[in-house]
Amino acid sequence: MIVLGIDTSFDDTAVAIVENGKKILASTLVSQIKTHDLYGGVVPEVASRKHLEAINIVIQKTFDDINMDMHSVDGIAVTNRPGLMGALIVGVTVAKTLSFCLKKPLIGVHHGEAHIYANFLSDIPMKFPQICLIISGRHTTLVYMSNVLEYEVLGSTLDDAVGEVYDKIARYLGLGLPGGPNIERLAIKGNPKAVKLPRPLLVKGNFNFSFSGLKTAVIGVALNDVRREDISASFQQSVIDVLLGKTFDVARIKETKTINLSGGVAANDAIKTAFEREGKEKGIQVIYPPNHLCTDNAAMVASLGYYRLVNGQHSDLFLEPFANATINNS
Ligand code: KG4
Ligand code: ZN
Repeated sequence: MIVLGIDTSFDDTAVAIVENGKKILASTLVSQIKTHDLYGGVVPEVASRKHLEAINIVIQKTFDDINMDMHSVDGIAVTNRPGLMGALIVGVTVAKTLSFCLKKPLIGVHHGEAHIYANFLSDIPMKFPQICLIISGRHTTLVYMSNVLEYEVLGSTLDDAVGEVYDKIARYLGLGLPGGPNIERLAIKGNPKAVKLPRPLLVKGNFNFSFSGLKTAVIGVALNDVRREDISASFQQSVIDVLLGKTFDVARIKETKTINLSGGVAANDAIKTAFEREGKEKGIQVIYPPNHLCTDNAAMVASLGYYRLVNGQHSDLFLEPFANATINNS
């Protein structure tokens, strides 16, 4: 079964064609980051306009890359939640039009949930249950996944998402977007113990996150004459301690032997290494996608769409975009 995936929820125009939820046949991504970097952050109105300019070209190119006729797809999956409203509208409108013209089912999917399925884009058999940690510019969510499409959200951020904090601190330190990779590069040359920073909400049994206090603390330190490398390394260590502590605590309580990392921040080597080391010690398998599938892409959207489709779930042409939404089973 072949599913077309479309994601225009934020600052990337992404389209992919995926077979059976696993095999990426084609994938295209046009990033707007250079434009937004001029303004110091993503400008919603600019994002919508850029998506509108790109979407038809990106779809055509994705099919052309593999010489595939659009009628060959069995369904069209599109991110309809959460995201920037104007940006979401572009993808949803295009997906509805394709669904109507090609007479193929439409599937509206949750962007954060789709990140989890970036780990399914391989032939490695998936074991359940899994504890999923979605860490990106918009999500910091801990989910217990008992099976495909079955979730219990255990905790999420009460304020800023972890990637958002990376980006804001990077901006404060005079680094460009995306902040994550820039901070990671500096952190390699810094001392993670140089600056004492809080480990927000790191108490047993609390699975929510709060990173805005950490951001304020880091900015406070940056006012003093501390090396950017040391600030970056100390900040990153605090993030690692919090993410690791909470995720392995949940895995222990839920007796889960697989941790599924996803989202742009999961591209961070220091975070991946820390999780793998702890996983080895505790006999827990840690899985994460290759870097280009950690960050936004449409293959993960098509993969989730495939599982919904084979489960008999699809949307109708009244599908609406939602700026905010939590992960649920439908
Ligand atoms: O998943 P993603 O592409 O988009 C959202 O769904 O938000 O994630 C983007 C976020 C940005 O905040 C970016 O700074 C962060 O992921 N990121 C990283 C790294 N690469 C991207 N954060 C830390 N270390 C990285 N290597
Ligand atoms: Zn994302």
